[in-house]
Parts: sequence; structure tokens; C-alpha cells
Amino acid sequence: MLDQVTKVHDETRQGEAYGPEATETQTYTKKFYIESYGCQMNFNDSEIVASILKEDGFGPTRNVEDASLILLNTCSIREKAEVTVRKRLTEFRKLKQRNPELLVGVLGCMAERLKSKLIEEEKLVDMVVGPDAYRTLPALIEEAETGQKTVNVLLSREETYGDINPVRLDTNGVTAFVSIMRGCNNMCSFCVVPFTRGRERSRDMDSIIKEATDMFNRGYREVTLLGQNVDSYYWVSEDITVTFANLLEKVAQISPLLRVRFSTSHPKDITDEVLFVIAKYENICNYIHLPVQSGSTRILQLMNRTYTREWYMKKIERIREILPDCALSTDVITGFCTETEEDHQETLSMMDYVKYDLAYMFFYSERPGTLAARRYQDDIPEDVKRRRLAEVVELHRGHSLLSMQKDVGKTFKVLIEGTSKRSEDHLFGRTDHNKVVIFPKEDHKKGEYVWVKVEDCTAGTLLGTSTGKA
Ligand code: SAH
Ligand code: SF4
Ligand code: F3S
Repeated sequence: MLDQVTKVHDETRQGEAYGPEATETQTYTKKFYIESYGCQMNFNDSEIVASILKEDGFGPTRNVEDASLILLNTCSIREKAEVTVRKRLTEFRKLKQRNPELLVGVLGCMAERLKSKLIEEEKLVDMVVGPDAYRTLPALIEEAETGQKTVNVLLSREETYGDINPVRLDTNGVTAFVSIMRGCNNMCSFCVVPFTRGRERSRDMDSIIKEATDMFNRGYREVTLLGQNVDSYYWVSEDITVTFANLLEKVAQISPLLRVRFSTSHPKDITDEVLFVIAKYENICNYIHLPVQSGSTRILQLMNRTYTREWYMKKIERIREILPDCALSTDVITGFCTETEEDHQETLSMMDYVKYDLAYMFFYSERPGTLAARRYQDDIPEDVKRRRLAEVVELHRGHSLLSMQKDVGKTFKVLIEGTSKRSEDHLFGRTDHNKVVIFPKEDHKKGEYVWVKVEDCTAGTLLGTSTGKA
């Protein structure tokens, strides 16, 4: 059902495919299978887990039947995310009956939220491991192998896994994600993340630059810097203080051939300094994900977003002033506690004002333990939440089509990510604005930059022809 609309985004992603780095020549006696849910940060965590397990002699497998260890890296952001994982766990029950030695572990945000309750509720789960406890996985596995149920959900104020080189799972060899911070201090009232991920902490800048440089040297051409709130990145060492603007600039300086993206920006924290850095470097993409959540100041206050409708609009104006050609995307929640039709109309008019290129839209799902769950009543009936969501989705559909159509006739620099799913003779890549472009292959290859003249579009894709290497 329509409880969210996503394109490439996180919450519906379910990955278990492995790229060449993960299935390299080395042979392993023990195999693990991992499935990831939720945001890009959680997918990146699975790559850290893969690296820790590799050191412990475990190799990854795509085939769940081959695994002696099954891991689900879970998400708690909305109820539906948790329901999906529960279903998946029942599917694993049969495997466990056939092979009692098989270990099943739940990682990530659901592990953190439910802790040992998860072992009581889901009898087949052997291990529950929270997002800051992955270094203890080898010890927990050893203990679980003796038949003990194990739980480690300690959150940390320091852990950033900065020294761990992630094993890239499901990679195209061109684009990759690099986490620059963990946790969140924001306490948006609807959100479970501060509880499942703990306090915000920034990763050591040198380790970020090293990881991105290594990736570039191995042929990667795009990094996305990840954090729940990247603009509050802050790293202090002996003699330097590094803000997000400084970090962004450093990453951009690795090479003009390395594209840089980042996500997510909280409207209250994105600074002019960051916007000027984006303007200064051609290789920092003109694309900002700036979740608005609601267009009503009253609702924004209840959500504890700390900005008003007018303040957000001014921020948009400022972005357009400094970066006239910047694509914008957003997240919207419909049917938050006490939301009236007028509040909802304000969300619609906000969307009309910005005309987002891309939007991720959800209806409100109450999460136990959050500020909103404790303070406010989840009083909007589900059919109303869904109807409002449908209206938001419908309005956005028009905006996104407009955004695609205005690119027809223009020429864009495209980073090639691979062969088009629909045709061996076509390649696909992305523009600076993060739009997918499909064009005839000719003699172009993955990882190269080409100029593509856009001739046509569908709702989600640009279609064109290459006019030469960029
Ligand atoms: N840190 C990011 C987003 C994290 S979660 C940020 O601040 O923008 C991704 C999106 O999920 C949120 O932006 C919000 O729109 C949505 N979301 C979070 N909690 C939700 C809930 N309880 N119900 C519905 N949607 C929710
Ligand atoms: Fe959740 Fe708000 Fe933090 Fe984003 S900024 S993770 S929505 S608390
Ligand atoms: Fe989900 Fe946790 Fe990410 S709740 S969205 S996996 S931080």
C-alpha cells in the first residue's frame, strides 16, 4: 500500500548482492549472508560488518542456503520497516529447523530498540547486536556457537568505525558511500533515530580523506558523505577545527574527477559557507536534500524541527541565490499528530513554492519511546493520513515531471555507472542533479564522464545521446 514513495532512496532498499570486492578470490570456510534495510548509513554499516567478519574468517555469500550465519541489518524508522523484518525472520525459521547449527543475528536499529526482547519474541534469533557494538561480533558469534543467546546493544559516545575499511557489498565500482558521523542529537519528536543510534559523533577527518582517496585510486569516481545531519559535522584535533564546509572542500580537492555528494542536511544547520564551497568546486554536485517534513509552522514546532515555514522558505531563497542551478529534494510526513486540513494545505503550498526535483513522502507512523509518542496523541485516522499522502504524492508527480522536462534539449556531464537494465547497447549514469540518464553505449565505459544531450524523458529517467567524452 501507499505508505511511502521512494525512488532510489533508502527505506525500501533491500540488498544482498555482492560485488567483486566481496567475492574476491580468497576462500572462506565459514560464510555469512547479510540483508540490509533502512537508510544508506545502515547499508554502509553492513559493509563495516562485512569487513569485521572477513577478519574473523567469514566470507560473504549471496546464497542464504550456503550461510552458517544469517544477519539482518534492520531499520525502525516506521512500523512497516519492522514488520518486513519480522516476516523475513519467519522465513528463516525453516532453514534453522533443517540446520540447527545455523546462527541468526539481528543488527541495526531494531536490535537497539528492542534489545533482549527480540530474543524473547523471535525464538530463532541467536544474536542481537546494536549499531555501536559491531566490533564485538566475533566474540558474540563464538559465544553463540556454544548455544548461548547473545546481546550487545551498548551505545557509544566515541565509536565511528573510522579505522575500518568497509568491504563494498553490492558495488558498481564507481559510486560509494562514506559515513562521516554517527548518531543524532536533534530529537525531532517523531523520530526514533536518536534512540537507536545514540549521540552524535563525528569521524576523524584524516580517516575520511584516506578512505575517499583509496576509493578514488581504486577507480571509484563518486563519494556520498553520509550522516543524519552532515552540517553539524565537527572535528577538532590538536591544532585544527574542521567544519562540514572544510571537510567538503578537502574531499573535493582529492581530485576534480571525484564527484562529491552528501546527505542529509538539516535546514537549521546548512550554512552559507557550505553553499559557497559547493559553488566553488565543479565536482561537488549541485544537489541538496533538505527535508521540510511539513509546511505548517505549528506542526514544525510540534515536530521539534526548530524552524518555521518562513525560515525554511528563506533558506531556499538563499540556496537559489548562491547556487542558481541547484536541485532540491525533500522528505515529507503527512498526518502528524493534530494536523488539520489547513496544516496539510500549507504542506502542499510549500511543495508548490519549492517544486522539489525529488521527494520522499511518508505518512506518520508512531514510534514507541519518541517524544511524540509520549506527548501527543496519534489522532489522525489512517485513511486521512493516506489521503493526504496521496495528495502530496500527486502534487509532487507534476513537479518532478516538470523538473525532468526542463532538462530536455540541454547537455549534461554524466558519470557512467553501468549498462542499462533494459538494453545491453545502452549505458546509464547520473547528472550533477542526480537524475538518471540513459544513452547509446558507443565506445564509452563505466567510470567515465561523458557529455549527453537529453532528447526525451520519462517520469524518472532522461534519455539522450552522447556528444563526446567530458
Ligand atoms: N536525518 C534525516 C532523516 C532520517 S529518517 C533528516 O533529518 O532528514 C528519513 C525520513 O523518514 C525523515 O526525514 C522523515 O521524513 C521520515 N520519518 C522519520 N520518522 C518517521 C515516522 N515516525 N513516521 C513517518 N516518517 C518518518
Ligand atoms: Fe531523526 Fe531529526 Fe535526527 Fe533526522 S535530524 S535523524 S529526523 S531526529
Ligand atoms: Fe532506519 Fe536506523 Fe537508518 S531507523 S533509517 S536504519 S538510522
